[in-house]
Amino acid sequence: SLPKPYTVRLPIPPVKKPLRSDATTDYYEVVQKVADARILPGLRTPILGYDGIFPGPTLISRSGRRIVVRHRNELPVPTVVHLHGGHTPASSDGYPIDLLLPSAGWSPGASHASTGHGAAMMTGDVAKGQRDYTYPLDQRAATLWYHDHRMDFTAPQVYRGLAGFHLVHDDEEAALPLPKGERDIPLMICDRAFEHDGAFRYPSLDRELRSTPGVDADFMEGVLGDVILVNGAPWPELEVDAARYRFRILNASNARRYQFALRTGDSTSVPFVQVGGDGGLLERSVELQSIVAAPAERFDVVVDFSGYRPGTVVTMTNQLGSGPTARVMRFRVTRKVRDDSRVPDRLSTIERLDPAKAVHTREWRFARGVINEEHKGWTINGKPFDPRRMDARPRLGDIEIWRFTADLHHPVHIHLDPFQVLRRGNHSPSDSESGWKDTVDLRPTETVEVAVRFTDHRGAFMLHCHNLEHEDMAMMASFATV
Ligand code: C2O
Ligand code: CU
Repeated sequence: SLPKPYTVRLPIPPVKKPLRSDATTDYYEVVQKVADARILPGLRTPILGYDGIFPGPTLISRSGRRIVVRHRNELPVPTVVHLHGGHTPASSDGYPIDLLLPSAGWSPGASHASTGHGAAMMTGDVAKGQRDYTYPLDQRAATLWYHDHRMDFTAPQVYRGLAGFHLVHDDEEAALPLPKGERDIPLMICDRAFEHDGAFRYPSLDRELRSTPGVDADFMEGVLGDVILVNGAPWPELEVDAARYRFRILNASNARRYQFALRTGDSTSVPFVQVGGDGGLLERSVELQSIVAAPAERFDVVVDFSGYRPGTVVTMTNQLGSGPTARVMRFRVTRKVRDDSRVPDRLSTIERLDPAKAVHTREWRFARGVINEEHKGWTINGKPFDPRRMDARPRLGDIEIWRFTADLHHPVHIHLDPFQVLRRGNHSPSDSESGWKDTVDLRPTETVEVAVRFTDHRGAFMLHCHNLEHEDMAMMASFATV
């Protein structure tokens, strides 16, 4: 039976401490392992977890300060770590065939020649047992997250727990009077389905995640769950002071889109004041009555509870859900406090990528298609993903226009550098969407144009749909920066 909403406290993932630091670098170690999580009352949920927890530990870094994260793989499956939103060299970006094999060894088993595109046999730069990922973090303050990116198996592996926050701070953000410390809270929101014994229910064709990718045909469009988790807890409650809070909302769901809204008990709506998006601070704050979030998008918002009496409850709902998925979490105001925080009108300056200076326009068509004679899947420009094929060779430093079109909903994500939305259909981007983005919510039949400029790092990077079932069923492409 499903847990009662608002009966568990919102967990806050622990902040990871470096093992050591030197003049230039902080060194971390994360152990990927199987563990039991307590998510539903009285039951255990086996997870694949960074440090054995879900969400994984939060990393907090300073812009421009390099870090090295050693990942040890004590799981029964290969993994790949990607820092989503990171401006990361190719060798540490988590290219989907750059596998980190289990320390105990691994083999894909008998090959299922007739299924998938044979990715289990395809390998790039492979490490066994452990691998060091180096992140220069030469980038603006922003809410990043890290998650698994193993070719063909990202969706089940993220679903089972391989996701965590990585926050980057900088001086510009620190100088603003926004809520900080205990009042700056990351919220990882995702939906999950459960078996009766408490295990996650995920319809993989290959339960052991060895060699056959994909899900039962009914789930082609994406796997949805009926339990909404925030930081790994079902419909939790957070006690808040009557003060302003900053929430870093991440839609970490495999496939679900949300429309978040806040209401008090007497159903007055409470606004979100958005201060940042995927790529950090907006130029100006934007007041929103609701937020539509596609998978992998982030919304940094401030919510002002200062006008509410102790005892007031504010519920966060999902206007795209129904029944249990229409609820997300609840805030309960507990006490009056002094609060010096505020949201300034002007937050940052964003350099505009001038589309008139673009040297290239590229088209990327996201649509259902075929992977091979027997398998349907998802394609970009009619082609299923092949990690050996580069679909574009943008030059570092050039501004390009990338034009995305879609048959259905596809949240499109580009690695390496953020982009700016130029137009959505016939419209200019909304204020909320006018900052730096790394994932854009493509809607059915829509055309979205973005301006992008890759910098610093040469090599192979990804562009893909962040509906993780689409991603695993071949909706990815590679580009090589030159
Ligand atoms: Cu969040 Cu290529 O992924
Ligand atoms: Cu998609």
